[in-house]
Amino acid sequence: MSDQKAGVNLQEKDRTWQMFDRIAQTYDPLNRVLSMGIDKRWRRRVARHLPKERPLELLDMATGTGDLLITLCQAEPRIQRALGMDLSEGMLAIGRQKLQSLQLPQPTALETGDATQVPVKDGSFDVVTIAFGIRNVSDVSASLREMYRVLRPNGRAIILEFSLPRLRVMRSLYLLYFRRILPFIGALVSGDRYAYSYLNQSVEAFPYGEAFCQMMREAGFTQVEAHPLTFGIATLYQGDKPNAHPA
Ligand SMILES: C[S@@+](CC[C@H](N)C(=O)[O-])C[C@H]1O[C@@H](n2cnc3c(N)ncnc32)[C@H](O)[C@@H]1O
Repeated sequence: MSDQKAGVNLQEKDRTWQMFDRIAQTYDPLNRVLSMGIDKRWRRRVARHLPKERPLELLDMATGTGDLLITLCQAEPRIQRALGMDLSEGMLAIGRQKLQSLQLPQPTALETGDATQVPVKDGSFDVVTIAFGIRNVSDVSASLREMYRVLRPNGRAIILEFSLPRLRVMRSLYLLYFRRILPFIGALVSGDRYAYSYLNQSVEAFPYGEAFCQMMREAGFTQVEAHPLTFGIATLYQGDKPNAHPA
C-alpha cells in the first residue's frame, strides 16, 4: 500500500525526523504523561515476542531516544549486541546520554540511519524492531523491505504502532482525547503545536490490523500476527523471515 493511498502527504513525512529534533528535549517526559505510562508497558510487551532459545543481535530502527532498545536489553540477557538507528541527531543525543548512565551489559550503539535505506549489510540481525516509527517514514513498504533484508533467515521483525480501538464507545472516547486534549497538552509542554496535531492526524491516516499485516506479507514476511494492545490503541505486529530454502 502506498503512502498516497494511506492519505499521507509524502513531503511532510520526509521531514518528520526534523520535527523530532525540535521536540527531542520534551519527548520522553511527554510520552510518559500523554500515554499515562502505558507506553512503557507496551515496550516491555515486545520482549515477550522475541525469538526463543538463541542469542540475539538486535537492530532498533527509528530508535529515537532508545527507549525500546533499552527496555529489551534490560529484559533479555540473550541480546548480545544492540544497534539503534534514527535520522534525528537530537533524539539520538538524548538516547546516548541514557545509555551512558545505564551501562547496559551488552555492547550498544546509536547511529544515524534511514529506516528506508538502512546502512547495514543483508542478513546482519536476528531481530529488527521499530516502535512508533514506521508511521513516520516516507515509504512504509520500502522500510518493511529493508527490515526483511537486514534480517537473518529465521529472524523476526517486531513493530509497535498506534492503531484505533475497534469498539465504538472506546474509539469515540479515545478520539476525543487524541484530537482535543493530547494536542493541547503536547503543544503547551513542547512548544510545538504542529508536532502533536501531526500525531493524531498521522495515526488516523495509517493502515492498521489486517491492512498492515498484508503490507508485511508483501514485503516477504511469513507467520504475520497482529496483537492489539490496550483496547487497540496500539498494535504489536510480528513477522518472520523464513529459513533459506535448501539448494
Ligand atoms: C515517535 S518517535 C519513536 C521513537 C522511539 N522508537 C520510541 O519508541 O520512543 C519516531 C522516530 O522516528 C524517527 N524517524 C522518522 N523518519 C525516519 C527515517 N526515515 N529513518 C529513521 N528514523 C526516522 C524520528 O526521528 C523519531 O525519532
